[in-house]
Amino acid sequence: MPRFAHMTFPAYRRLLGPPGAAEVPVEPGEPSARPLAVRALVDAEPAGLALAAFRPSAPGGPAELLSILVADEWRGRGIATRLLERIEDMARERGAPILEAVYMTGKPSTEALERLLAGRGWSTPERRAVTVRFTPEEATRTPWWERGRLAPGDDVLPWREVTPGEIDALRASQAETGWIPSGLEPWWYDATGYHEPSSLGLRRRAGSSAGPSTTRSPPTPCGSPAPTSSRRSRPRAELRALRASIRRLADAGVAWCTFMTYVEQPRMVRFVERRCAAWASFFAEMRGTSKVLGAGGGSVAGASPGSEDQGVPSAACGASR
Ligand SMILES: CC(C)(COP(=O)(O)OP(=O)(O)OC[C@H]1O[C@@H](n2cnc3c(N)ncnc32)[C@H](O)[C@@H]1OP(=O)(O)O)[C@@H](O)C(=O)NCCC(=O)NCCS
Repeated sequence: MPRFAHMTFPAYRRLLGPPGAAEVPVEPGEPSARPLAVRALVDAEPAGLALAAFRPSAPGGPAELLSILVADEWRGRGIATRLLERIEDMARERGAPILEAVYMTGKPSTEALERLLAGRGWSTPERRAVTVRFTPEEATRTPWWERGRLAPGDDVLPWREVTPGEIDALRASQAETGWIPSGLEPWWYDATGYHEPSSLGLRRRAGSSAGPSTTRSPPTPCGSPAPTSSRRSRPRAELRALRASIRRLADAGVAWCTFMTYVEQPRMVRFVERRCAAWASFFAEMRGTSKVLGAGGGSVAGASPGSEDQGVPSAACGASR
C-alpha cells in the first residue's frame, strides 16, 4: 500500500503490507502483531488511513489504534469518523475486547482527534506522560542549568565505560533498598539498546552513580534523569548528569532534545512541568484512551484475514468532490 505510506508514522509504514501479510512486532522486541488497515479513497485518490494492530498470540488482549489521518482537503467531512468505525468493527470481529490509543497533545488537530474519539464513545483521555522538546541552547536558560555544574571529584563518562563492578554495586544497593524508581534502572537499557552520545555515568568521589538512560535514536533522544547512589544527593547529581548529557548532544550536533517522563514518576513530572516547560519550545502530554468493543460487531465488506486493505469507497466516507 505505498500510496498510503505517507499517511502514517514512518515507524509504522512497514506494517502496510499486502492483505494477509506476515505478523510483525509493532515495536522492536514486542510480540508479533497483525496490522489492520482501513483506507479512504476519494475519486480513487488516497484521502485517509486508519491503522491498528492486534496480537493473535494474546487472545483476549486489547487491540491498538496506531494512527488515523485524513488528508487536509478532506477534513471535517466525517471521513475519520467512518474510518474509526470500520477499524473498531475489524478489531471486534477479530476478538479484541478493547481498542486502545495513545496520542500526543499540542498539535493543531488535537481538538479534532479528541472530538472524534469522544463522538465514538471512547473513554475520557488520561494523562500518561509529559514531554518537552528543547534545543541545547534553551536548556542553558532553565533555572536548573547552573545547578547542574559538575562538582570537584565528579567524573562523567560514557555509560559503556561504567565498569561491571560499578553496575553490580548499583544493582546490589537497588536490591537492598529499592531506591531506584521502577523503569529507571539504567542497566535495563543495556539489553534494549540506548543512545550512546547522551548515555552517561556520573562517577563521584563517594561512589559510582548512573547516568541518563536513553531509548531513542537521534535526533530526538528521549532521556530520563539518572538514579544515583545516594538518596540525599540525588537531585543535584541527576542535574549534573543531565547537563553533561545535553552538552554532549550539542557537541554531537543534535538540534533538539526530547525529554519524556511517565506519570508513574511524579517527581520527574513536576521537574518537567515546573523547571522545563516554560523554557522549552514544545510541551505536551501523552494521553491514553480506550473503547470497550463488546461482543459481536458490525460487518466489514471485503475484510481479509490479515488486514483490511479493501478501502473505504468514497460514498461510504461521506465525501465527494
Ligand atoms: C484528527 C483527524 C483524523 C480528524 O479527521 P476528520 O475527517 O476531519 O474528522 P471528522 O470529520 O470525522 O470529525 C471528527 C470530529 O472532529 C471535529 N473536528 C474536525 N475538524 C476539526 C477542527 N479543525 N477543529 C475542531 N474540531 C474538528 C468534528 O467536528 C467532529 O466532531 P463532532 O462529531 O463533535 O462534530 C484529522 O484532523 C487529521 O488527520 N489530523 C492529523 C493527523 C492526526 O493528528 N491524527 C491523530 C494522531 S495519529
